[in-house]
Amino acid sequence: MNTKKPFLVTCAFPYSNGDIHIGHLLEHIQADIWVRYHRMQGRSVFFICADDTHGTPIMIKANNMKKTPEELISITLKKHILDFSRFKISYDNYYHTNSKENLYFSNKIYLLLKKNGYINKKKIFQLYDNSKKIFLPDRFVKGQCPNCFAKDQYGDNCEKCSFIYDAIDLIKPKSLLSKSSPVLKESLHIFFNLPRFQKFLWIWIHSGVLSNSVKNKLIEWFKHGLKEWDISRDFPYFGFKIPNYLNKYFYVWLDASIGYISTFKNLCNHNKNINFNDFWKSSKNTNLYHFIGKDIIYFHSLFWPSILEGINFRKPTKIFVHGYVTINNKKMSKSKNFFITAEKWLKNYDSDSLRYYFSSKLNNSFEDIDFNLREFVNKINSDIVNKLVNLASRCSSFINKNFDNYLSKELLDFEIYKSFLKESLYISKLFESLNFKLLIKRIMLFAEKANLYFNSKTPWLLCKNEFRIIHSVSSMGINLFRILMTWMKPIIPDLSLKVEEFLNIKLKWEDIKNPLFNHKISNFKNLYNRIKYKKIF
Ligand code: 2FM
Ligand code: ZN
Repeated sequence: MNTKKPFLVTCAFPYSNGDIHIGHLLEHIQADIWVRYHRMQGRSVFFICADDTHGTPIMIKANNMKKTPEELISITLKKHILDFSRFKISYDNYYHTNSKENLYFSNKIYLLLKKNGYINKKKIFQLYDNSKKIFLPDRFVKGQCPNCFAKDQYGDNCEKCSFIYDAIDLIKPKSLLSKSSPVLKESLHIFFNLPRFQKFLWIWIHSGVLSNSVKNKLIEWFKHGLKEWDISRDFPYFGFKIPNYLNKYFYVWLDASIGYISTFKNLCNHNKNINFNDFWKSSKNTNLYHFIGKDIIYFHSLFWPSILEGINFRKPTKIFVHGYVTINNKKMSKSKNFFITAEKWLKNYDSDSLRYYFSSKLNNSFEDIDFNLREFVNKINSDIVNKLVNLASRCSSFINKNFDNYLSKELLDFEIYKSFLKESLYISKLFESLNFKLLIKRIMLFAEKANLYFNSKTPWLLCKNEFRIIHSVSSMGINLFRILMTWMKPIIPDLSLKVEEFLNIKLKWEDIKNPLFNHKISNFKNLYNRIKYKKIF
């Protein structure tokens, strides 16, 4: 990885029709930790996200709430921004896709793709709800799977046999809006010619931008052949109108991905020191990273790079893919109220605890992450309280009581300090490669080492005249605690702030090579309370 170049980092845009829940938070926390780590290394990182505001579900939800879509997306945007800020996700810009910048880029990119010969049109048949006067998106129609005949399947794929089909192939389809049987209706649609990018994509997906497992998934899709992508939707629809057509709109996924560009443009409008072209025209001087879930690999590794190639823009440097969050190994479900919103979480626990827990489970694969409340409570109490905070509390009691809050001028067992510094290089690698699970294991192993060191010296048994050893041992404990908390700073920012006040320093990566000698710390105040098991879902 070329770490000298500035980074642009994105998370997938949450839809404007729902609350932020722990499934979203996994990704935003993962990306935020990575961003905070790189910022600590002195790199210039721009971290952006936005609400994904268009599409039929948002239009229908607004309608049901007797609001306009604009009202709904504006209420939701405020709420999403608040939720992410409460989880300390350090966005430089959190915007939305119904913006003037996004309208401008969607039109411009579409017209450019058209000019370059990548846009076709053809008439297609779709399911139409005659009573509601609307073409039905795949998720608004259910029927029998044409492959295994399972009942109650959505219009895109079968949950029973995983077969992918077109909604018009469903047997006995029913509209979820009116419960009526939809009819087939013809309409002219606009397509992006994905197959034209086959050769480019094949080279691109083999160029190291994706992990091997994601690459293999894509190779499977290649085997089935790439199809043209339908980028238009008919009235009624909430979105941007397609230039030169009456009543045709860009499909939400087209302007959502372009939202990465327009959200960044909006940031540039507010910060004149950032050069837009440096990030989008060429990849020579900057890196572009997308964090996404495994359900949207197709959009980000086939459509998105092809659009960028079609307009001669730079392509992503890497796409990081994570799995789903399950609760007690079961899929989260909004309809069954089996999910935990950001708001509900914060009524019961703090944000650091979720950040820590997710980190301890995340590696750089797209395996699902299971949330288990008992495991969560045990982990927080045994790691953060028993191994980290207790170390500071026990060592500082000597410094506060006997040494007027000053750390010693020397450290007698310097080898142990050096072993922590050596580990720091490995810790950096684990941050960079998003191997947070192993990272937490290593940090906790070193926290145990620090505690063992302190326990083995039994300063509480030493006589008063051995004050030099007592002072050095407890100062060593505080110095090791400082290294541990510097490593932890990207993961648990709230506790890190309290620790900075307690230690009277900023926790900085490059500073740990110099131990704190003869340095005045504050009186120890409780840094973190033990948490209790509560039934929160
Ligand atoms: O799957 C989703 O939740 C989409 N709203 C993600 C869009 S990501 C980007 F393309 F905007
Ligand atoms: Zn089936």
